[in-house]
Amino acid sequence: MQIQEDRAAEAAHAAQLFRQPSEFVKGVVNVAGLPDDNLPEVAFAGRSNVGKSSLLNALLGRQGLARTSNTPGRTRELNYFRVGEALYVVDMPGYGYARASKTLVRDWNHLIRDYLRGRTQLKRVFLLIDSRHGVKANDKETMELMDKSAMSYQLVLTKTDKLKAREVEAVIAATAEQVAKHGAAYPEIVVTSAEKKQGIDELRQAVVRSLG
Ligand code: GTP
Ligand code: MG
Repeated sequence: MQIQEDRAAEAAHAAQLFRQPSEFVKGVVNVAGLPDDNLPEVAFAGRSNVGKSSLLNALLGRQGLARTSNTPGRTRELNYFRVGEALYVVDMPGYGYARASKTLVRDWNHLIRDYLRGRTQLKRVFLLIDSRHGVKANDKETMELMDKSAMSYQLVLTKTDKLKAREVEAVIAATAEQVAKHGAAYPEIVVTSAEKKQGIDELRQAVVRSLG
């Protein structure tokens, strides 16, 4: 009973939090540019084109707020969005984008690594996994980096509208196996489609839970 009541309270809190207006604050290209006002933040990380910016728009209920694209490598900075006066949601550049220049890839990877390693305001990283592809080698590297830094993170499957129900079940099971191998990973997996607006309430509740 208590658990049910807690969940209901959490759902109400999440709905209220995300009813507040959200806005783009700034794009950050190096750790020196990170906001220093101590608002808690959560971040969306993952491979290029996995659907980070699209899911962020769905989370904030604002179509077109974060720029999305068919072409991988769209988001090139740590883009800070503020929800009311309560929290930042950070849209990260993707990793694993082969067609960018070597210098760009190196700069992005440095930025991502520095950020994921040592940002105290960062309450949880949502690591997005394309449900058609599952966890890839560079996702595992990112998970290992966050394990080492004891950075709390949670896996989110994206684009499930592209799969049949039984294929979704299979990728959930395979992803759960990966999660079990990693110390800092939160056990629950969030299953989403930004396109069909599925799993968005669950994602909002996970964000609220991460704020403690
Ligand atoms: P980068 O910024 O380049 O790293 O990409 P991203 O991870 O931010 O991906 P983005 O949100 O720009 O989406 C990439 C492509 O996937 C776009 O063409 C989106 O329309 C598409 N997409 C995103 N989410 C979904 C989804 O839930 N379902 C489907 N079918 N397509 C999606
Ligand atoms: Mg993006």
